[in-house]
Amino acid sequence: MSKQHLVIFDTTLRDGEQSPGASMTREEKVRIAKMLEKLRVDVIEAGFAVASQGDFEAVRAVALAVKDSRVCSLARAMTGDIDRAGEALKGANASRIHTFIATSPIHMKYKLNMAPDKVLEQAVKAIQHARQYTDDVEFSLEDGSRSEFEFMCRITEAAIKAGARTINVPDTVGYGEPAAYGAMFKRLMETVPNSDLAIFSTHCHNDLGLAVANSLSAVMNGVRQVECTINGLGERAGNAALEEIVMAVRTRKDIFPVETRIQAEHIVATSRLVSTITGFAVQPNKAIVGANAFAHESGIHQDGVLKHRETYEIMRAEDVGWKTNKLVLGKLSGRAAVKARFEELGIQFETQAQLDEVFTRFKALADKKTEIFDEDLQTLVAKSQATQVDEVFQLVDLEVCSKTGKTPLATIQLKAHQELKEASAEGSGPVDATYKAIEKIVNSRAALLLYSVNAITSGTDSQGEVTVRLERRGQIVNGVGSDTDIVVASAKAYLHALNLLESSAARFHPQRDGV
Ligand code: KIV
Ligand code: ZN
Repeated sequence: MSKQHLVIFDTTLRDGEQSPGASMTREEKVRIAKMLEKLRVDVIEAGFAVASQGDFEAVRAVALAVKDSRVCSLARAMTGDIDRAGEALKGANASRIHTFIATSPIHMKYKLNMAPDKVLEQAVKAIQHARQYTDDVEFSLEDGSRSEFEFMCRITEAAIKAGARTINVPDTVGYGEPAAYGAMFKRLMETVPNSDLAIFSTHCHNDLGLAVANSLSAVMNGVRQVECTINGLGERAGNAALEEIVMAVRTRKDIFPVETRIQAEHIVATSRLVSTITGFAVQPNKAIVGANAFAHESGIHQDGVLKHRETYEIMRAEDVGWKTNKLVLGKLSGRAAVKARFEELGIQFETQAQLDEVFTRFKALADKKTEIFDEDLQTLVAKSQATQVDEVFQLVDLEVCSKTGKTPLATIQLKAHQELKEASAEGSGPVDATYKAIEKIVNSRAALLLYSVNAITSGTDSQGEVTVRLERRGQIVNGVGSDTDIVVASAKAYLHALNLLESSAARFHPQRDGV
């Protein structure tokens, strides 16, 4: 069967960032974008340029940093949005403007308060305007899966005539069902007279757990672009997971008439990078990238795999980047070896000073922990330490007394706004006592939404990685901290979240705020 190319459009940096608390800085976006480029994603949606100055600069930085993938910015079907997107993408090797407007009766009536003809007119104008910046314009019919078929045909035909080269019909609210959603694409392509001039695209949300199934059904019905995210990150229940789409079409070559150019051996490292930066841990049983995805517990399975691997394995762990020997470095490793390993993991240092700083932290970790794994290295440059967030609150010292039968007591010293402060507090456990002591100094009025701790590698000397989600006045942030001492990791994560709350600038949401 001769295969057609399936365009992989990654929206981790845009839709993924719409997950509450997943916002990323410019440097973090560039780091992820470089990894996506290495993975050989076709299109990277880097952000929503008009949302804030920070978003604009992040799109621009990704546009300048990435050479092999096309870089895209989202824009509502409005001249101002498109101008910001066009401006941010100047200098990109290959760019795309992705403009959208809602087309379902419910969205047009209640959100836009616009008649369908006006929506169509605005879409056409936006596409024509976007074509002044780039030949590559994508148009999305927001809430497509709940739109009326006749109107979808009209607006799709007009969009293609106006110059859109990709037509995306998203399942914005995760309402689609695989057979009906796939059939809709087939019918749309058969009905719209100029459909052969565009690539049709799917973009599915996972509210019913059907995002990947819906996307694959669309592919079986002629769609040749899938919009997806690493680890399925995204608005509400998330988007279709890139790693699942890619491995499904690769593993079931016998069924899918398409192939991607993805270098699957970088999937696990990319997943890890996204999870460390966003603070969204990957569940152990997550397909492809979960810690247990290739672990065989049952004796019967283990026996089968040892006799003949394919008895229970449909993919090879190493094909997606799981290493059998993950031990890479130790106390005696030199700067060159450390740098080379970071590069293999897709992490580059722009300046010698950055490398020196990470190398110092590597040595400190190697003193505590004899075996340094890839995951440890990734964590070394993770959000809590490497991000250029202003450190309004810095950990200076932490002492915790925890004894069976006694109430734990924490004494913490912080630099808060450059001033050294100390406080002590009791708590129901050592972490609770630490957080209460921090709050005595900071008085943040933030609500703790989530506290989670994961071991970065196996073994009791593993680093613990703590994620803390805080909310204050509707703003949600995720702080991440790691250390071989999980109470220290917890303090670092909490302070990181507080620093993010202090520094995060206001931005708006493409699908909720404004028209
Ligand atoms: O879910 C959605 O409809 C979107 C569009 C902006 C493509 O994210
Ligand atoms: Zn979406």
